[in-house]
Amino acid sequence: MIMPSAESLSSRHLIGIEGLSPAEIGLLLDLSDRYVDFNRSANKKGDALRGRTIINVFFENSTRTRTSFELAGKRLGADVINISPEVSSVRKGETLLDTALTLDAMHADLLVVRHPESGAVGLISQKVRCSVVNGGDGAHEHPTQALLDALAIRRRKGKLSGLIVAICGDILHSRVARSNMILLRTMGAEVRLVAPRTLLPAEVERYGVTVHSNLSEGLKDADIVMMLRLQQERMRGSFVPSTTEYFRFFGLDSQKLAMAKPDALIMHPGPMNRGVEIDSDVADDINRSLIQEQVEMGVAVRMACLDLLTRDLTGNEGPAE
Ligand code: CP
Repeated sequence: MIMPSAESLSSRHLIGIEGLSPAEIGLLLDLSDRYVDFNRSANKKGDALRGRTIINVFFENSTRTRTSFELAGKRLGADVINISPEVSSVRKGETLLDTALTLDAMHADLLVVRHPESGAVGLISQKVRCSVVNGGDGAHEHPTQALLDALAIRRRKGKLSGLIVAICGDILHSRVARSNMILLRTMGAEVRLVAPRTLLPAEVERYGVTVHSNLSEGLKDADIVMMLRLQQERMRGSFVPSTTEYFRFFGLDSQKLAMAKPDALIMHPGPMNRGVEIDSDVADDINRSLIQEQVEMGVAVRMACLDLLTRDLTGNEGPAE
């Protein structure tokens, strides 16, 4: 299915994939493709965001998302600042909204926020003048992760529509799963969720996905196998008997992968727990693992998001052809 490209995004915020049209997703992916080429060139410094200020505010740990937003902003010529809650006035009792309003008052142009509570980033976007991008909020959404995953898939498979994508593991606590389900279904892919019942949200079939509790069955003829981390930090209580038992039934190894198509690609948003949800042999398979490519796509996707969300402010026209 060829999607007509939108010319701009309908919102100045990016809080979730939910609400984005196929054309808006197509626009973001097309622009990201151009930034992949830009990032692979010797001169990785542009000026589309010169004079703009981006502030990363991460209330949860991050390696990939925070670093790639910082790189993305800097490669586009913006000033980028990182705020760590541990050394900010949050530690003195300042609220999330007061923190955001304070940064907004300094004429930040865009805040990138990660927060453990679902809905927290959307709430900030309703209160501030600047643009807000969700860097992951609780188990709600991680929109730039889904966009970078879609870009990695589209570049390797040439399409999203019609592919069979198996998303496997801790779906219940995963904002990555939720954003991916919405994006992939919006773009015409078939999505299967593979997890123990204890790690599936209630009524998840409403997203137009099918549910499997047997990994080999869920992987049958899949084009893409997307593994998720067991998010122990979000678990209140016991969801799996043990990590050893979990790996035996739901961990990806070469034997279980053999159920998928011979050219199936392996994905993981990171960070990985090797030996828990994925075996090193498949994670490091240079022919089939997209994991490092996902990280590369992350910078390009975040450049496209920053570019499009600040276009009204700058009048910039994106990267040179
Ligand atoms: N995938 C992802 O969000 O990774 P980080 O937590 O390292 O940002």
